[in-house]
Amino acid sequence: MRRHRSRDRQHRPEDSHRQHDRRHNTPHHNPCSHDEHLRRLTVDFTYPEANMSSTSGDSPSPGFDTSVPNIARVYDFFLGGTDNYAADRALAAQIAELSPDWVQACRDNRSFVGRAVTWAAGQGIRQFLDLGAWLPTHPAVHESAGGIAPDARVCYVDNDPAVVAHARALLATSASAGVAEADLSDPASVLGHPGVTSIIDWSEPVCVLLAMVVHFYDPVTARELVGGYASRLAPGSALAISCGRNDDPQMWQRMRENYTAATTYNHTRDDLRSFFGPLHLVPPGLVVASAWRGGRAAAPERPHGPAYVLAAVGVKP
Ligand SMILES: C[S@@+](CC[C@H](N)C(=O)[O-])C[C@H]1O[C@@H](n2cnc3c(N)ncnc32)[C@H](O)[C@@H]1O
Repeated sequence: MRRHRSRDRQHRPEDSHRQHDRRHNTPHHNPCSHDEHLRRLTVDFTYPEANMSSTSGDSPSPGFDTSVPNIARVYDFFLGGTDNYAADRALAAQIAELSPDWVQACRDNRSFVGRAVTWAAGQGIRQFLDLGAWLPTHPAVHESAGGIAPDARVCYVDNDPAVVAHARALLATSASAGVAEADLSDPASVLGHPGVTSIIDWSEPVCVLLAMVVHFYDPVTARELVGGYASRLAPGSALAISCGRNDDPQMWQRMRENYTAATTYNHTRDDLRSFFGPLHLVPPGLVVASAWRGGRAAAPERPHGPAYVLAAVGVKP
């Protein structure tokens, strides 16, 4: 991904468009807000490369294949980012066409992440490990945590080298957050990774986030890998999981076949509950992401179709 243009503030999607406009002053490159960008998802997937290479003048890294859809970049586009290429947008368009609810579901997921982090910080947790983090934006975990606890520390983990490079640039001036390149499916290597242990003290409570990543693993593997983290957590730690769900088997099958960036699994509510093992689910338990409120009754769900996100937070006794 491109180098960050400024090291003294957070990246905002609108900024990329503004920068891009200076270089390509065509009607197609009008600045657009985050909401406008999301609205375009249903109508326009064709705008040119308003992203990594074009805004900075950088070329993509060697081995960085922009012709193949990528998990992080497709997700970035769903959330209104500009770190994506035509192949990513083409796949995003297919998914959005198959399941028009999906863009909103991704946004609901980000809102859940923010609420889970805020809740955990309010419980006194001061360390956060975001596994499969993608970019620290929309809003960033360290911003949500820091809003409650300025002394909170955050470690972002991703296995995509381009995501990691970009996240490091975004966090270059942050004293409270860092990034580690690691494979979340190998808990032992993540737990001992120097980039993780320089931020996370495993003898103290941690909030571990597994947001929108367990659907990359079959239920048995997902349960094992979540357990690999949960077993190492200090008492009082929290584990937040969110996961896409589709109640329409035919739509799900079409989405799965079309989503070529990775193999995905449609976990049931029982699967997801089982991933928490002995952890106690915080009220309201496992619910639609838009309804989760830490320690309280569920809020009304945002109306949704067959595709939505389920979410819960467990606490280690
Ligand atoms: C769908 S995005 C979710 C991002 C963020 N957790 C959220 O909920 O908004 C999935 C992210 O997980 C990363 N990822 C996928 N497999 C991974 C793995 N085995 N280890 C670490 N990161 C992984 C991808 O690169 C991508 O950034």
